[in-house]
Amino acid sequence: MTTVRVNASDTVSIETGALVVGIHTSPEGPRTAPGADDLDQALNGKLAESLTAVGFTGKAEEIAKIPTFGALPAPVVVAVGLGDSPEDGYDLETLRRAAGVAIRSLAGTASAVIALPATTAEEAGAVAIGGLLGAYGFTRYRTNGDGRQPVGELVVLSRAPGAEEAVQRAATVAESVTLVRDLVNTPPSDLWPARFAEIAQEAGGEAGLSVEVLDEVELKERGFGGIVGVGQGSANPPRLVRLAYSHPGAARTIAFVGKGITFDSGGLSLKPAASMDWMKSDMGGAGAVLGALLGVARLGLAVNAVGYLCLAENMPSGTAQRPSDVLHTYSGKTVEVLDTDAEGRLVLIDGIARAAEDDPDLIVDVATLTGAQIVALGWRTAGVMANDDALREEVVEIARGEGEGAWGMPLPEELRKGLDSPVADIANLNPERWGSMLAAGIFLREFVPDGIRWAHVDMAGPGFNKGEPHGYTPKGGTGAITRTLIGIAERYADN
Ligand code: BES
Ligand code: ZN
Ligand code: ZN
Repeated sequence: MTTVRVNASDTVSIETGALVVGIHTSPEGPRTAPGADDLDQALNGKLAESLTAVGFTGKAEEIAKIPTFGALPAPVVVAVGLGDSPEDGYDLETLRRAAGVAIRSLAGTASAVIALPATTAEEAGAVAIGGLLGAYGFTRYRTNGDGRQPVGELVVLSRAPGAEEAVQRAATVAESVTLVRDLVNTPPSDLWPARFAEIAQEAGGEAGLSVEVLDEVELKERGFGGIVGVGQGSANPPRLVRLAYSHPGAARTIAFVGKGITFDSGGLSLKPAASMDWMKSDMGGAGAVLGALLGVARLGLAVNAVGYLCLAENMPSGTAQRPSDVLHTYSGKTVEVLDTDAEGRLVLIDGIARAAEDDPDLIVDVATLTGAQIVALGWRTAGVMANDDALREEVVEIARGEGEGAWGMPLPEELRKGLDSPVADIANLNPERWGSMLAAGIFLREFVPDGIRWAHVDMAGPGFNKGEPHGYTPKGGTGAITRTLIGIAERYADN
């Protein structure tokens, strides 16, 4: 794991593997951004000239590496584009992405100093988290050790009051996101429900959370028919994990519920091969909930928080649930399973009904729930639905403040009828394909008791990056929505 610290010294004096500086576009060509002024002097005012010579303009996320030939203690300067110079204050996401791109390009380098603009604590925090998340690499399964190791040590240059604290928060949040990425990237042969529960128990115990795990026998006894139904086809039985954090100064309780399908084959409603190879990522919601609870505890927030991880492996077999089976769920309601691939909602409703017993001020569930989310909003924007307009807008606003794409979506009443079942209280599938992200939200809403504020985040696209890395987002597991959940906890905390 990459470490980070703040240093108030100038850019030219630190011994390091690489020095990262920000560059703006301007009509006269690339221009050094604040934070690296003395560097240009040390290079005899030749930085802009050299950048122009290699075709660098300073547009956002562009990078160039310039050797320093002994003019500085650092052997290389990494110039990263910040776009046009802002009129008042930097956009924090621009800083996060710039730091991320630069540090990602330095894999194999032991240390780096980041001299991006950081004149406020917020900016220093943004630079730190961008750098830390950009450093991420998943090398556990590589045997060739070919220099892809992430940068080990980052130094953020800042003299802003409060920078230490902001950078410390960034380190804590990044530690959570890193854990979630690792969990998502771990192959399902090494991450099944009981193993996930064990990891939660170990990490949760260390962070001071109280952790309870229900195994398949207890789940059955206590009536968690949704989780049991989804998990019964697998040789790796399901689990429900409850993580709890409390603070003596807390006035409010928040509850998070995460979809934790450690592999989604579709079950008997089997997925086609091309949609299956990345379904190890179907536990990203539960990952985010675990990461968030750990973050809340490590930050010592004055809020009570509970997190539920609804863990199951969705497999076809002789013991698997069948299309047309009826489940008795924890809420007391029955559900007809028309499609075993719509399994996320089945585990979530047991988690939501259980979370409601904690009498929280709000419940937020997070899930890689529908392909329709990707159709509607693409890879980088989660859909947010809620039974309360103000809560939905609050979640969207917090997500966007953290740099996570999110957009409010409706729960149109007319979609409820499509979920009518001829035999049970409700069916898990709307035969109509259109609007199926929203229909999934409507389904979940039926299981939220009256009087409880609830929001649902569908992060099917954002949870896993099938494409190339960008900004501080790597290929593979992204850790999406972890930062949003921590942001929600901060908003509801009294410190
Ligand atoms: N895990 C999938 C959703 C998904 C798709 C996540 C793509 C990430 C990327 C979910 O369990 C699923 O299969 N949903 C079905 C629901 C349908 C059967 C109503 C879907 O979206 O096709
Ligand atoms: Zn599925
Ligand atoms: Zn799924």
